[in-house]
Amino acid sequence: MTNNESKTSPSGYNSARNKDVLIEVKNLKQYFNIKTSLGKKATVKAVDDVSFNIYKGETLGLVGESGSGKTTLGRSILRIYEPTAGQVIFSGVDITKLKRGKLLPYRKKMQYIFQDPYASLDPRMTVSDIVGEALDIHNLAASKKERDEKVRELLKMVGLNTEHASRYPHEFSGGQRQRIGIARLSPWNLSLLYVMSRYRPLMSL
Ligand SMILES: Nc1ncnc2c1ncn2[C@@H]1O[C@H](COP(=O)(O)OP(=O)(O)OP(=O)(O)O)[C@@H](O)[C@H]1O
Ligand SMILES: [Mg+2]
Repeated sequence: MTNNESKTSPSGYNSARNKDVLIEVKNLKQYFNIKTSLGKKATVKAVDDVSFNIYKGETLGLVGESGSGKTTLGRSILRIYEPTAGQVIFSGVDITKLKRGKLLPYRKKMQYIFQDPYASLDPRMTVSDIVGEALDIHNLAASKKERDEKVRELLKMVGLNTEHASRYPHEFSGGQRQRIGIARLSPWNLSLLYVMSRYRPLMSL
């Protein structure tokens, strides 16, 4: 997500110009270092130089496609993730600079509501393990090669990248995790899944 992709609520934003700023996000960046399926190092720029203000009593809406960085932005603001760069100024204090122990009073004032509380993906398993396990349960792969192929096929069908197979659930967005759940649930009915993957409203859950 970059600043061009974040959308503020026009009515709220303009009318709030003269009000007190509650939170000021300045040039926030959140990069993740990941390993690709080939074992190479790569960087995911989930939030890249985002700035905005939220004024007291106002609401800010953030719109973006799945995986564009909305959740990561929220987590970085709360320092659930340590931001790679940038500032978050809450009631005049830059909370990115505070020691963990001093964060508590701010944490109490900022609450986070989880997007997928019912997520049931085992955090220790890779996506390949998770989807492959479903194939095993239904005896749908005769060899490791066939299993790997079917996992890749399922990932593509739900709109994920085959590169994602070696990643763990916490390395995905909420919408992407929902897709992993669909891939895991439906391997025995590939034709149904194929129809679902072409049905955009479902895939943008
Ligand atoms: N811990 C992580 N490690 C590596 N990559 C991550 C991690 N968390 C998120 N990502 C990646 O960062 C990007 C942004 O993810 P994020 O969860 O912020 O998206 P989102 O906008 O909330 O999507 P959705 O609408 O699907 O919930 C995605 O490409 C995701 O795969
Ligand atoms: Mg999200």
